[in-house]
Amino acid sequence: MKEFKRYTVTAALPYANGPKHIGHLAGAYIPADVYVRYLRSMGKDVLFVSGSDEHGTAIPNQALKEKTTSRAIIDKYHVQIRDCFRKLGIAFDIYHRTSEPIHHETSQEIFLNMFNKGLLDEEISEQYYDDEAKAFLADRYIVGTCPRCGHTNAYGDQCEKCGSTLSPRELINPRSTLTGNVPALRETKHWYLPLEKYEHWLQEWILKGHAKDWKVNVYGQCKSWIDAGLQSRAMTRDLDWGIKVPLPEAEGKVLYVWFDAPIGYISATRAFFREVSLGKLEFAQPQRSFGLVQPEDWKKYWQDKETKLVHFIGKDNIVFHCIIFPIMLHAHGDYIVPDNVPANEFMNLEGDKMSTSRGWSIEMHEYLEDFPDKPDVLRYCLLANLPETKDSEFTWKDFQSRNNNELVAILGNFVNRALVLTQKYFDNKVPHRSTLDTIDIKAIEVLRVLPSRIAQSLEYFHFREATAGLLDLARLGNKYLADTEPWKLIKSDPVRVGTILNLALQIVANLGIVAEPFLPFSAKKINEMLNRKPETWIDAGSDVLMAEGHALGVSSLLFEKIEDGVIVQQLEKLHNKKLGIETEVYSSMPLKDEITFDDFAKLDIRVGNVLKAEKMEKSSKLLKLIVDTGVDHRTILSGIAQHYTPEEMVGKQVTLIANLKPRKMMGIESQGMILMAEDAKGKLKFLQPSDIVSPGAVVS
Ligand code: 2FM
Ligand code: ZN
Repeated sequence: MKEFKRYTVTAALPYANGPKHIGHLAGAYIPADVYVRYLRSMGKDVLFVSGSDEHGTAIPNQALKEKTTSRAIIDKYHVQIRDCFRKLGIAFDIYHRTSEPIHHETSQEIFLNMFNKGLLDEEISEQYYDDEAKAFLADRYIVGTCPRCGHTNAYGDQCEKCGSTLSPRELINPRSTLTGNVPALRETKHWYLPLEKYEHWLQEWILKGHAKDWKVNVYGQCKSWIDAGLQSRAMTRDLDWGIKVPLPEAEGKVLYVWFDAPIGYISATRAFFREVSLGKLEFAQPQRSFGLVQPEDWKKYWQDKETKLVHFIGKDNIVFHCIIFPIMLHAHGDYIVPDNVPANEFMNLEGDKMSTSRGWSIEMHEYLEDFPDKPDVLRYCLLANLPETKDSEFTWKDFQSRNNNELVAILGNFVNRALVLTQKYFDNKVPHRSTLDTIDIKAIEVLRVLPSRIAQSLEYFHFREATAGLLDLARLGNKYLADTEPWKLIKSDPVRVGTILNLALQIVANLGIVAEPFLPFSAKKINEMLNRKPETWIDAGSDVLMAEGHALGVSSLLFEKIEDGVIVQQLEKLHNKKLGIETEVYSSMPLKDEITFDDFAKLDIRVGNVLKAEKMEKSSKLLKLIVDTGVDHRTILSGIAQHYTPEEMVGKQVTLIANLKPRKMMGIESQGMILMAEDAKGKLKFLQPSDIVSPGAVVS
């Protein structure tokens, strides 16, 4: 493996549009942090950056939902996400924000540099425009029918049902999500990065250059993109939230969020060196002394070929980090490109896809509220189940079992036994080591190789294997004590017990080093209990870390058992959260005035079949339905056009009030009312019998 002079490690900038869940942690942040902590422990020069991605349509979308401004959204979630990372021990050197002026400047500089070199193509194209909202529609503001699978609510950039990447023009029956109107095409100018011109470079760099060292899932995705042929991609958007395109003719246009977000890694680095050189560290968390620092030092981390650049991301970000951003860096000319992109797959939760919007998630802040003193248990559990090669699964049962059977019973138990026995038999001081038996020599041999085996796994981004290695080290100690049984020998052979405990304490000291990247809080505690400054990984494997006679600190339990009740509660909470989403609005609606049965009996509620459905001209809200009521075929106008397409309604059974006085709307008489329920997000759902019944069936 090539030796590098320094490392720049990045972890994807999460959108500051809402809380982030533990699947995000497993995808990028925990493995990145373990890798960085390991490198730091090896004495490497490493810079670890991340921050909030505060542009793109995700932000104004959320502002709309929360009825506030985009600025308020990013301010709220940036702080929340940053603080959670901190509490979970993710030790960034800087957690920056893309709303900072230095990021706007850096992004605009890079754009202009590429523009001036003629690397961007200017193109006029037709894009969807919503006349009523007076805005070009970003991809996420257009929905329509997916041309691949027929899903009727696919977005302009992606179908969430079949996963296809789409462009808005491919959608069948496109509609604006702002008004529900059918958008019209209008000409607009944008600047494109001609990805296809770099195909040859990508073939050389990735397909030939990284066939062996990149993960199979990452390499495979890149290969299929490159093999399918790349297409030019617009680097600008018509949007009012983002970084202004620094060209006079680009009024009202901003940089594409995927142009500016990865540049966020560079601007975070610039900000870090600027702040440190000024002695200002209020938002940076320097993990080590960078010595005398100049603002220009950032360049070493991005422009020196002896720097190893590693991007930690989830699999949905592969194309941006392996193809688009590297093309930008390469085309620009001054920058290095990533040496590796160890992207992970997704982590599911209790048998289903993790999703904040569907309420099926454990958000970082939720975990921390319930388990404030257990950041390491989550880290461990995620690492042990990391979705490295395929999607994996988090379950509360597994969380409990990993905690009770591995952290408590193996790691915690060993450390505690070694310390308590030393306290009891040797006045809390490291005992003298006498002649070694075969069993001691064997244990020392294993101790010597385990840390380097773990290190090797980490160098290759095999985090599960490395985590298992850490546990093996604790197992070694546990088994050594179980086999030598010092508690049985103390009366007959205290010298031998001294040797055993000396060796056991050497293993504990090794755990204090090796556990640090994985379980930083517990490693700190181990070192405190040993009353020693942590050493670097370079010392790991040694059997003479603890000097004879050294006084130990106060010992306490590293981990505590998690009872069944806690797990039951978490499962209940998870299920309730999902239900809560649907019941939120319902439960907050006050009850209407009481009516008598006779009042109710006046309503003629029936089941009907929708025979035809069409959009009403000039109305974004109404659908015109022809309904078979069993008695007649009648026209009903229903305000559901923003919730259902005509195609979705045809053939459906609905429930209607059949004796409502007809009402004229937009020149057409509506002869009844379809019953609807509204969910917490304001989406209407029509009501159906639980099984098919004949049209005209009376609801009572
Ligand atoms: O997928 C996401 O959450 C993006 N905000 C990740 C951006 S990573 C980088 F490019 F900044
Ligand atoms: Zn689809």
